[in-house]
Amino acid sequence: MAEDAKLIVDNKSFDYPVLSGSVGPEVVDIRKLYGQTGMFTYDPGFTSTASCESALTYIDGDEGVLLHRGYPIGQLAEHSNFMEVCYLLLNGELPSQLELGNFSYTISRHTMLHEQLMSFYKGFRRDAHPMAIMCGVVGALSAFYHDSTDIADPLHRRISSHRLIAKMPTIAAAAYKYALGQPFMYPDNSLSYTGNFMRMTFGVPAEPYEVHPVVEKALDRIFILHADHEQNASTSTVRLAGSSGANPFACIAAGIACLWGPAHGGANEAALNMLREIGTPERIPHYIERAKDKNDPFRLMGFGHRVYKNYDPRAAVMQKTVREVFAALKVTDPVFETALRLEELALSDPYFIEKKLFPNVDFYSGIILSAIGFPTTMFTALFALARTVGWVAQWNEMISDPHQKIGRPRQLYTGPAERDYVPLGQR
Ligand code: SDX
Repeated sequence: MAEDAKLIVDNKSFDYPVLSGSVGPEVVDIRKLYGQTGMFTYDPGFTSTASCESALTYIDGDEGVLLHRGYPIGQLAEHSNFMEVCYLLLNGELPSQLELGNFSYTISRHTMLHEQLMSFYKGFRRDAHPMAIMCGVVGALSAFYHDSTDIADPLHRRISSHRLIAKMPTIAAAAYKYALGQPFMYPDNSLSYTGNFMRMTFGVPAEPYEVHPVVEKALDRIFILHADHEQNASTSTVRLAGSSGANPFACIAAGIACLWGPAHGGANEAALNMLREIGTPERIPHYIERAKDKNDPFRLMGFGHRVYKNYDPRAAVMQKTVREVFAALKVTDPVFETALRLEELALSDPYFIEKKLFPNVDFYSGIILSAIGFPTTMFTALFALARTVGWVAQWNEMISDPHQKIGRPRQLYTGPAERDYVPLGQR
């Protein structure tokens, strides 16, 4: 344990405990700072702030390390599957064969939606963005599943956690079908979690659907890569919403809304659109110059990260998966060559080197999803589908903490000091 941190204010000295985790940076416990000094800390964007204690996911941004309950993401992507990673995140340990079987069975028994929920889709325009639909339909789950919203009851928390993980593929697939004007497909629980989603998305009632095993494995791996990521913006949104005691469905709907932003989960859609706009490798230098130009709001989408100042380990797995899917589907996409060349040029450019900007999870994912057949508008919905287990696991961790309190940050006020009202006739 390090020595206390010392703060000197107006010649008065205050000591604050330094707390250590199992790995990673220590923290200065400033919970008593305002009471003792009358001052707040100031950290918009929370670049130096630990908002909570968590045992779920550890990221070392400098080394490009990502662990889920201690297991490196590369090993999970290589050897595990999404259902197993869901169990690991929720329960803390890898499951036995029996535990995994029981968990997968439980999840499969929650994949259907209340039939009245399906009529919600008809209220949207056919060209509604799938994320708009996901926000609406997931929030509406609170109106259907009252029997599992007592967050103080661990059993209710477990049931609503399973419902959310199980129903997201059905909800996302239905959003895609609605946009196409095709009939919704009901789940087929004889398939894997990911295979079930593929059939609900690409299958039609008029003929049998065969799950392509290589694509199923690739998509399952993409879900693993998106499962959880420490206290990112959408997870922090879920935690803040949950800290008020809001029901889990409302909290996850809040997380979906936050994930939609192009600086966060919306970047996978924006990255592929950017690569398509760039088109050929010859046009890359122009876009790199734009990304470096302070007066140009353009940024390289899928590049840079608040935490990773090294290569995002998820991006490395994604790049390998592009090649696997292209080979399995016997397709190619010139955009992949453009992406590889863009990475090569950016990573050798002093601007990106100095600012430690590397490809992140969103840089290559869209190329794979497009090759599989998803429109760009579905990319963030798939991110939300996969991240639901992380949101739910983080929410459970927070709610089950006996010391958790409602999140209520303060501010640095720069508005007018108190002044008297001026009657209209005197203005
Ligand atoms: C995700 O938090 C998570 O873990 C998120 C996520 C998860 O799994 O939950 O990993 C998923 O959201 C990945 C990130 C996806 N977003 C994008 O790809 C959008 C493009 N990237 C950027 O907008 C940016 O890099 C962020 C938002 C990701 C991070 O922004 P920060 O940490 O606030 O950093 P910053 O904006 O202050 O940038 C630092 C510097 C700035 O230059 P200066 O003002 O210091 O001169 O780097 C520059 C930025 O202008 N910069 C970029 C850039 N990203 C940062 N310049 C060009 N292109 C970029 N992509």
